[in-house]
Amino acid sequence: MTSEFAVSVPLDGGRSYEVLVGRGARSKLAALIAAAVPGAKRCAIVTEAGIGTALGDLATLSSGIDQRTFTIPGGEAEKTLETVGSLCSQWSQWGLTRSDVVVGLGGGIVTDVAGFTAASYHRGMAVIHVSTTLLGMIDAAVGGKTGVNIPEGKNLIGAFWQPSGVICDTELLATLPERQFRAGLGEMAKYHVIDPVRLPVGADSWPIEQRVAACVEIKAEVVAGDEREAGRRAILNYGHTLGHALETATEYSLRHGEAIAIGMVFAAELAESMGRISSEEVARQRALVASYGLSDRVPAGLDPAHLVALMARDKKATNAMTFVLDGPAGVETVTGIEHGLLLTVLERMN
Ligand code: GLY
Repeated sequence: MTSEFAVSVPLDGGRSYEVLVGRGARSKLAALIAAAVPGAKRCAIVTEAGIGTALGDLATLSSGIDQRTFTIPGGEAEKTLETVGSLCSQWSQWGLTRSDVVVGLGGGIVTDVAGFTAASYHRGMAVIHVSTTLLGMIDAAVGGKTGVNIPEGKNLIGAFWQPSGVICDTELLATLPERQFRAGLGEMAKYHVIDPVRLPVGADSWPIEQRVAACVEIKAEVVAGDEREAGRRAILNYGHTLGHALETATEYSLRHGEAIAIGMVFAAELAESMGRISSEEVARQRALVASYGLSDRVPAGLDPAHLVALMARDKKATNAMTFVLDGPAGVETVTGIEHGLLLTVLERMN
């Protein structure tokens, strides 16, 4: 039996939207466009090489809308202003208008670029995301963060630009390489800690569509309460501070979700060392990461002092840092954590 879920992201100003989760949910795209962007005459589908093959049936929307596909180069290195400029030129030559619609069809890189280009073209037009990766479904495609990289850093140019709808077709997850799927589970593990009511002990064995829907529900609630990350939205970065440092230190040989899983366990160890959570809770988070087939160990050969320096750079702090930590009131931001404590916990972690 297949399950389908529709999760609402409630926002002000008539910008609320639905995230449709389920096997085969991509068949709802034409209806979603008609409902969410009723006046659209053209649809610009932004995708990445290789994705169209798995989704041949998306090539035709059967909606009476004139559609064209724009394939962008894959990889973080191509998530640039040049790619955005090229899309804008092609759209302009075609005659795409602000009343039309953009569809971002792919993983996080595609939806970040499609979202940011839609936010900028003609000062902003509607975008709908069809996410094809686990990481994209539970994070990148939902919540309106869009952007591109510059040589100075990741996502340093961007906009908060909410989509008009999102489709998470869990059937497509079968097309992912196994390691990419498992890495997505690292991001999912984070949600188990952020909201253990929606994802209770044992939820790691639920059907994947139910877990994706629960993650989207958790993210939707956080985003609705703090759309522009003035405060609480930062909890979505649980595990990310060490995670980003590990990605940099390993030159991205660790995938994002793999690094987040290790970063989560580090955050749990740090919280325990500050008396915020029990050793049983640390063990629970380690077991969760293991149940998703992910490692909780910092890769051999990385210098803990270098990792602390990278974390400090990530947060631009001098001698004390802000971290997202678990505690008696749940996951929250905690300020004033000394570099020395980070080093001690990292050194004893493995
Ligand atoms: N990826 C974290 C957020 O959307 O806020």
